[in-house]
Amino acid sequence: MSDDLFDIKIDNLSFKNPIALAPMGGITDSQFANKFAKDAGLVILGGYNLDAATNLAASEMAKRGRKEFISDEPLKLIDNELRSVKTESIVAINVRSSTLEPLIEAARMTKNLNAIIEIDAHCRQPEMTKIGVGEALLYDLSKLQDTIRKVKATGAIVSVKVRANVVDNIKMARAIEDAGADILHVDAMKEGSGADTEAIRKIRDATRLLLIGNNSVTGIDTAKEMFTRGADMVSVGRGVMEDPSLITHLAKEIALIQKEIGWYNAPKHVCRGEGDLRGLAFCCLPVKPCPVHSNVKKIGISAKEFADLKMEFAKGTPLEYGDSTCFGSLVWCCKITKMCPLRDGVLEMIGLSDADYMKLKKELADYILDHPRVTGK
Ligand SMILES: Cc1cc2nc3c(=O)[nH]c(=O)nc-3n(C[C@H](O)[C@H](O)[C@H](O)COP(=O)(O)O)c2cc1C
Ligand code: SF4
Ligand code: SF4
Repeated sequence: MSDDLFDIKIDNLSFKNPIALAPMGGITDSQFANKFAKDAGLVILGGYNLDAATNLAASEMAKRGRKEFISDEPLKLIDNELRSVKTESIVAINVRSSTLEPLIEAARMTKNLNAIIEIDAHCRQPEMTKIGVGEALLYDLSKLQDTIRKVKATGAIVSVKVRANVVDNIKMARAIEDAGADILHVDAMKEGSGADTEAIRKIRDATRLLLIGNNSVTGIDTAKEMFTRGADMVSVGRGVMEDPSLITHLAKEIALIQKEIGWYNAPKHVCRGEGDLRGLAFCCLPVKPCPVHSNVKKIGISAKEFADLKMEFAKGTPLEYGDSTCFGSLVWCCKITKMCPLRDGVLEMIGLSDADYMKLKKELADYILDHPRVTGK
């Protein structure tokens, strides 16, 4: 599998695919990763307890029968674990600490080893939350932001693991992005069962961070539910314990999709409220009353500015062609999975493959959403 098939990068790190092993305390160590996640683009080890207070809390949790990584020398343990992963994946460590210094030391270690540090703002075990760790950080966003800033100041790549719907999803995502994190890892747990993919979509629209969607992914169909709502990667935990070949299957299937349609996490159209804002790349010329107007409003520009941005992007690219399509240019055309002989005729005539058409649509989505007129930066 080509390393840049997916073009998922952060700084100097390039992920071979968008499938990640999720952290499970006491379970996901290097041995587990080497056995079950050799085909993952990212393996997240841990959660590791970095200071005396979190190790004590973990010991109390272990007395209740939970598996935990408990150590008198956590940094030594992590160093050894990071060096023992043989999967050719990017490696991250999910960590908890009630004090800042061990987080900074762990961040320096990950930076030196080309790995990622993931702050656990997810754990809801009372032994952790009562010492201000895990999910407690979500209720104190300024403390979480301060932690992110100080960890990020080491130059490490920083991920933050959260659970959706604990606090306001949008405020949470923006606070984490503003503090300088690189990755937002969201457990979209839904009361009952399954994942709240609508939460993923809303978080996607609130942040441009690399987004990892998580919860109840057990095959390509559930993974696609996350990808089409804007997850850049999906992570799997319990599913791997049920099906040891899950990561291998997901990695193979998503590679086939990427080869065939060129944008493995292409959004749905925005018409029916399912598509995230990247779906504006598939929108028509805004000439009739339809959801394009409310979506354009969300990004703070007028329908005219939106039309200008799309035309500006199309200029000099193959999307300029398409006299015979509904609006005279492929830049207004639909997702490739929507059948359309008019568009396909143009693609054939100009020799543009389905995958290359979709890659241009992805660039168009990025062009719109990262445009200074939209970001105000
Ligand atoms: C046994 C177990 C231990 C876990 N430990 C951690 C942890 O230490 N840190 C963390 O961020 N998430 C932890 N999680 C949460 C998982 O990373 C993941 O968010 C959750 O299991 C939902 O994803 P899944 O449906 O793919 O398992 C744990 C989950 C399980 C089942
Ligand atoms: S512009 Fe077209 S694709 Fe976009 S919401 Fe309206 S009808 Fe749907
Ligand atoms: S020509 Fe086909 S793909 Fe293009 S906008 Fe019309 S229906 Fe959609």
